Amino acid sequence: MSDDTGEPEVELEARLEEQETFEPPESFVEQANVSDPDVYEEFEENWPDCWERAADLLSWDEEYDTVLEDGDAPFYEWFTGGELNASYNCLDRHVEEGAKNRAAIKWEGELGETRTYTYGDLLNEVEAFAAALRDLGVEEDDVVTLYMPMIPELPIAMLACARIGAPHSVVFAGFSADALATRMNSADSEYLVTCDGYYRRGDALNHKEKADKGLRGVENDVQTVVVDRLGDELTHFLGADAHDYGELVAEHEGASVEPVSRDAEDMLFLMYTSGTTGEPKGVKHTTGGYLAYTAWTSHAVLDVKPEDTYWCTADIGWITGHSYIVYGPLALGTTTMMYEGTPDYPEKDRLWDLVEKNRVDTFYTAPTAIRSFMKWGTEYPERHDLSSLRLLGTVGEPINPRAWKWYYKHIGDEECPIVDTWWQTETGGMMITTLPAINEMKPGSAGPPLPGGMMITTLPAINEMKPGSAGPPLPGVDARVVDANGDEVEAGQAGYVTVNNPWPGMLRTLYQNDERFIEEYWTEYSDEEADEWVYFPEDGAKIDEDDYITILGRVDDVINVSGHRLGTMEIESAVVGVEGIAEAAVVGGDHDVKGEAVYVYAIPEDGYEDRHAELEEKAMEAVLDSIGPIARPEEIVFTPELPKTRSGKIMRRLLENIASGDELGDTSTLRNPEIVDEIADQVAGD
Ligand code: PRX
Repeated sequence: MSDDTGEPEVELEARLEEQETFEPPESFVEQANVSDPDVYEEFEENWPDCWERAADLLSWDEEYDTVLEDGDAPFYEWFTGGELNASYNCLDRHVEEGAKNRAAIKWEGELGETRTYTYGDLLNEVEAFAAALRDLGVEEDDVVTLYMPMIPELPIAMLACARIGAPHSVVFAGFSADALATRMNSADSEYLVTCDGYYRRGDALNHKEKADKGLRGVENDVQTVVVDRLGDELTHFLGADAHDYGELVAEHEGASVEPVSRDAEDMLFLMYTSGTTGEPKGVKHTTGGYLAYTAWTSHAVLDVKPEDTYWCTADIGWITGHSYIVYGPLALGTTTMMYEGTPDYPEKDRLWDLVEKNRVDTFYTAPTAIRSFMKWGTEYPERHDLSSLRLLGTVGEPINPRAWKWYYKHIGDEECPIVDTWWQTETGGMMITTLPAINEMKPGSAGPPLPGGMMITTLPAINEMKPGSAGPPLPGVDARVVDANGDEVEAGQAGYVTVNNPWPGMLRTLYQNDERFIEEYWTEYSDEEADEWVYFPEDGAKIDEDDYITILGRVDDVINVSGHRLGTMEIESAVVGVEGIAEAAVVGGDHDVKGEAVYVYAIPEDGYEDRHAELEEKAMEAVLDSIGPIARPEEIVFTPELPKTRSGKIMRRLLENIASGDELGDTSTLRNPEIVDEIADQVAGD
């Protein structure tokens, strides 16, 4: 017998199979950064001042006056009056405190070359590049676009921007030229830092070509800096206006660049993400609240310590990498790892080899990766000594209990707590997760009488993890599961996640689009008249009797492919742009490893009915061109019609069921029920 991941059932011991709750080992709890169960109560009683605890992890140039300014909600402001610099907080202060020679970034290229930057090295290069950016004309508040893969120059450029108060907008290197152009235009960005190429499964990919193509679609005159990653492998081509990163840094070596004091509410960066419409949303994060929040959650949830080697396997091109490879860990002065390549190159034990070699303490990854590891088998982690690991984490999508248990046993050796962290680009940092060394107290649940008859009213914390459930909201976060009216659902029921009070890491707005900010996040459950603002993340969830929240997935037109957030409308608009395709619907279907996969249903125009192969190729190309390989459809199905309601709405739910191989249910209310079986047969026939 095998399960959804193809792993034989016998692989997991029966004991583990049946176990529903897990407690962290005593040894972990004893050394944890946050282990006092009172933290929940403290945060609740002192809210919003509790967040000073996060702000205290930072060094401020100017102390803030007010923790939370809510006069213009939902345009909340945090730590107002405060001034600080993110680059100073991530670099200088550690050097000043004697950590100059501690490794800040440990990097490994796909071909095996390694680079270690100490805090001293990193500061020097960040200052040199910051000076270079200034010389190129970058001024405070200019948006600098960074289009780079997992090479150290990416965090260096981010910190150099932060140093001079220029917000960065990182565009994931796997995104297409068109996606780069859209984001640069939207941010009105005049500067681009990119590279010649990088390695994937041993091949040198030409990245510069893609960047150049993107630049042709950018309205501004752009100054470009190119990092030479590949040396001679690819021609390190510099256009007339492009500058060589290496030369710039060499010219400015030894430069001293004062970190600019930024207002707590000044923008630190922009990050584009997908939403319901085709237009990506420019999520704006600020300097004080974001940095305090990522530092605090790195401290409390990831248990990061300066002496650790910490590894988050995300790509810095996504929010997880921003918050938990760069800003959170570096603010805490730890050693953060970066790996350039894929986990199965040259062999499927690459990540475990890295864990062993670097004695990694904390490993934070996505469920999709765990499902791949499961599929590959236990022999790969078994080749390595993983005993340095102390804590494991997951992020990005729901984790199925079997994958959780596999991770727990085969990577953590049943010795590491797992934090399943729910959050979003918009939230800046983690929102719902167990704290690894404590769990929420259970208010109201009277404990057993103590010897002598004395009663206690609250049970001491039991540090339970429940596979598949992210856990309770973090201290100070008021996340709930509500029904369509905004009323909390009963334990065991499903509903929608809401966040009913603000938090420091929250997005402040959508870049230059306050209206859309309100519309997207603050309309569904807020009561504007009563000035009651409720954040709606557009996720479905269930809650249990212990207030543990199990995330069920997006309830909007966003799908989650391998932990990557994609808008179905963006894909649809690429497909309908193909000549010969009249209409298309894009949905997510269940996928063993990716979680969800992209399914396209398309109607050919008259005259194109017999040209499916040609249309498929063009549609595929269109998706790759407008978004990139991450959005590559699993299947493109051609059909003369799409299932529609009598009022003419496409029944997406039905198309999702077809893609997932689920029961189709009642189709009798459709205008064209006969088309459903026809489509289902086509999908099943492959
Ligand atoms: O649906 C949720 C899912 O990922 C979405 C956010 O995607 P993005 O902004 O790209 O950020 C991903 C990394 C933080 C959420 O709306 N998601 C994220 N973490 C989890 C999750 N779903 C279930 N469990 C999680 N731990």
